[in-house]
Amino acid sequence: MSNVLVTGGAGYIGSHMCVELLQNGDDVVVIDNLSNSSTASLEAVQRITQRELEFVDGDVTDADVLGLLFADHRFDAVVHFAGLKSVGESVDDPIKYYHNNVNGTLCLVEAMSAAEVKTIVFSSSATVYGIPSKVPITEDFPTGAINPYGRTKLVIERLLEDVYEADPSWRISILRYFNPVGAHPSGEIGEDPNDAPNNLMPYVSQVAVGRLPYLKVFGDNYPTRDGTGVRDYIHVVDLIDGHMKALEFLEDAPKLAVHNLGTGTGYSVLEVLDAFQSACGKTLRHEIVGRRPGDAAESYADPSKAVSELGWQAKFDLARMCEDAWRWQSLHPNGYSSEGSAD
Ligand code: NAD
Ligand code: UD1
Repeated sequence: MSNVLVTGGAGYIGSHMCVELLQNGDDVVVIDNLSNSSTASLEAVQRITQRELEFVDGDVTDADVLGLLFADHRFDAVVHFAGLKSVGESVDDPIKYYHNNVNGTLCLVEAMSAAEVKTIVFSSSATVYGIPSKVPITEDFPTGAINPYGRTKLVIERLLEDVYEADPSWRISILRYFNPVGAHPSGEIGEDPNDAPNNLMPYVSQVAVGRLPYLKVFGDNYPTRDGTGVRDYIHVVDLIDGHMKALEFLEDAPKLAVHNLGTGTGYSVLEVLDAFQSACGKTLRHEIVGRRPGDAAESYADPSKAVSELGWQAKFDLARMCEDAWRWQSLHPNGYSSEGSAD
């Protein structure tokens, strides 16, 4: 049993991590500034698990808050989800992104170092590969993000590598997520974007529930099997299983390791739409529009490094991702906002 600090634990992926840790018997403390979430997700986590977690309403860029947190607890590990993730917003306001993501991680690592807590799992992204020259993508592909959000992820990866190089007693896992989708099978927690979603699955799901009129398919003239963009969608529960395996992997010995978390299979936009239509039993309107700037034709992982080193493999298929996303969305048409959340 471990004592784990989950930064950004009230968010989409972090809340699923909290469920898994609590069900595994670990103790959980969440620090989240609720900038893109509410405490309703944490209430749901506690309902699902019938266990309590400790919540600190705080910002990881606040060194004083972190100092108190690490003084009050003896953490075995930190799982670091706190960050801003909108590509468009990062182009408009890069300073906000560098401050929040890079400075936030720097403050966290400083506090960890001072408290002699040297185990961290970090949420990186396949976005660090930029537009890949071929697929599937292995971890040794050249990196080169093409927007400020992606560059914050790359800078943080470098920061963690430098920390490890200077002090090889750290245990650092960098996980590069492909496209996390879906929701906990209970339907109690899921993705709840603040504004109109930028990403495909939450967009389709809001069309299905009637919050958005139709899906705009960004381009049908890519060199792919049906002309629409291909991505590696991964069920959030599988993604979290990868984090649990990464924590176990770090227990063996100090190390810094980078792993792709993807299924290894790519699906096109139209295939996702089809699968979602089957899951919700409705025909969903869509229109083909122009390409979105910065989009790759195809991006999917070669997950074999995670398979061999972490003993991890994604289990859920696209149909299951859509079923679980739809269960969450149909049970909570307006996300958490209709649930009297305390944000
Ligand atoms: P999310 O916005 O749902 O969760 C992030 C959480 O962090 C939110 O609850 C937010 O309030 C909190 N937060 C942000 N800045 C903070 C700060 N300075 N201090 C404390 N809390 C703060 O996003 P998510 O989808 O759960 O993503 C989690 C992590 O995974 C992020 O770092 C994101 O960049 C990364 N990631 C996400 C995806 C994806 O598609 N969802 C893909 C690749 C990587
Ligand atoms: C996007 C981000 C990436 C980020 C990731 C997870 C861009 C250019 N990339 O990746 O940096 O790490 O989200 O947050 O923003 N699509 C539509 N219509 C829509 C939405 C998407 O056709 O309304 C298409 C896209 O063109 C793409 C696919 O669906 O082919 C998946 O898009 P999305 O879910 O936004 O993920 P990524 O583009 O992979």
